[in-house]
Amino acid sequence: MNSQLPAPPDPRPPVCYGSLQLASRFLLSPLAGYTNLPFRRIVREIGGVGLATTDLVNARGLLEGSPKTLQLIQTCPEDSPFAVQIFGNDPGLMSEAAKLLEERGVDSIDINMGCPVNRIVKGGAGASMMCRPDNTVSLVKSVVEAVKIPVTVKMRLGWDDQNLTAPFFAREFEQVGVVAVAIHGRTREQGFRGTVNHEGIRQVVEAVQSIPVIGNGDVTNIADADYMLRITGCAGVSIGRGALANPWIFRQLVQWEQTGSCDPPGNFDDRLQLLLRQFRYLLEMTTEQRAISMFRKMGHWYLKSMRVSPALRHQFQCAQNLNDFDEAVKAIAAQGPMSGSRSGVLPDMHIPVPGGPVERW
Ligand SMILES: Cc1cc2nc3c(=O)[nH]c(=O)nc-3n(C[C@H](O)[C@H](O)[C@H](O)COP(=O)(O)O)c2cc1C
Repeated sequence: MNSQLPAPPDPRPPVCYGSLQLASRFLLSPLAGYTNLPFRRIVREIGGVGLATTDLVNARGLLEGSPKTLQLIQTCPEDSPFAVQIFGNDPGLMSEAAKLLEERGVDSIDINMGCPVNRIVKGGAGASMMCRPDNTVSLVKSVVEAVKIPVTVKMRLGWDDQNLTAPFFAREFEQVGVVAVAIHGRTREQGFRGTVNHEGIRQVVEAVQSIPVIGNGDVTNIADADYMLRITGCAGVSIGRGALANPWIFRQLVQWEQTGSCDPPGNFDDRLQLLLRQFRYLLEMTTEQRAISMFRKMGHWYLKSMRVSPALRHQFQCAQNLNDFDEAVKAIAAQGPMSGSRSGVLPDMHIPVPGGPVERW
C-alpha cells in the first residue's frame, strides 16, 4: 500500500478559519443526500477530517422551521467542528439564517455559490451568484456582518470558460471578511464533465492575500490530494465522492502527511460493520421505513466498494422493512466480495459522476 505513495508534503501551518483552527487540512465536501449526520459521524469516528459540512440548506426553509430542513442541521457533540452550508439569494434571509445557526452553536457557516442545479440557479442562488458580482459581494458581506462565527464560501471556477470569476470573487470576499474559500475546479457549464482545472484553482490561491483556499474536485486517493496541494498551492483539500467510496481517506491522508505512509482502507468486513453502524445512526434519527429508503443511495456506494454481487445488491435495494434489510445483510456477509479477498484491500471502485445535464446530479 505504501510503496507507491508520493513523498509527504513539506510541513506547513494548520488551516485556520479565522479563530477556528482545523485539526487537519482534509475536509468533507457537502454532498446533498449523503453528508447527513450518520455519515459525518462514521467519517469522524474513523478520523482525520478537519471539518464536515452539511448538505446545502435552504435559508428560507430554515427560518420557516421546515422539519426537513431542520433535520439537515441535526448534529451531536462528536460532530465537531460543524459547518452548515446555506443557500439563497436574499441578503436579509441569508443573514437571519446565519444568526439562527450561530445561536444554535454552529461553528462556521458556508455559503453555497457552486450548485449548478437549475432549481437552485433559477432562484438566483448557487452558481448563478457568480453572474452578479455586486449583489453577490454585498450579500456575502451582510452575512459576514450578521455573525461572529467564521463565514466561508464554496464556489466553482465561474459560470463558463469565458467567465472564470472565482479569483475576482475570492479577492472581494477576503476584503469583506470571508475567512476561507473552497473551489471546485470546474465551471457551472461543465457540470461534472471533463477534468478539474488545477491551474484555475491556482489562480484563486494567487488572488487572495492570506485566507486559505481549499481545493476540491476528483480527489480520490493520496496521489490526487498530493497533486492538488502541489499544483495549486491550496491550503487544504476537500473531498466528496472519494469519501463515499473510501470513508478512511481522511485518516489515510493525515497519516501520509505526518509519516509518509498510511494504513490500508477498510476491508470487506470493516465496510460491512461501518454500513451497519451508519444505518443504526440513521435509525436513531428517523422511522424504520424512512431510514430504509434514505439509506438506499448510501448502500449503493458501500456495496459497490465491497464488490458485492449484483444479485445481492438488488436484494439489498429491494428491502422494504428491517427484516428484509437484515436478511440482505446476512446474505452479503455470507457471500463476501466477488473480487479481491474479504480480509485484504479491495479493488478501487469506479467513482461515478452525476449523469446528464447539470440538472441531474
Ligand atoms: C450528489 C452530490 C451532491 C452534492 N451536493 C452539494 C451540496 O449540497 N453543496 C455543495 O456545495 N456542493 C455539492 N456537491 C459538490 C461537491 O461538494 C463537490 O464540489 C464535487 O462533488 C467535486 O468534488 P469531489 O470530486 O470530491 O466529489 C455535490 C456533489 C454531488 C456529486
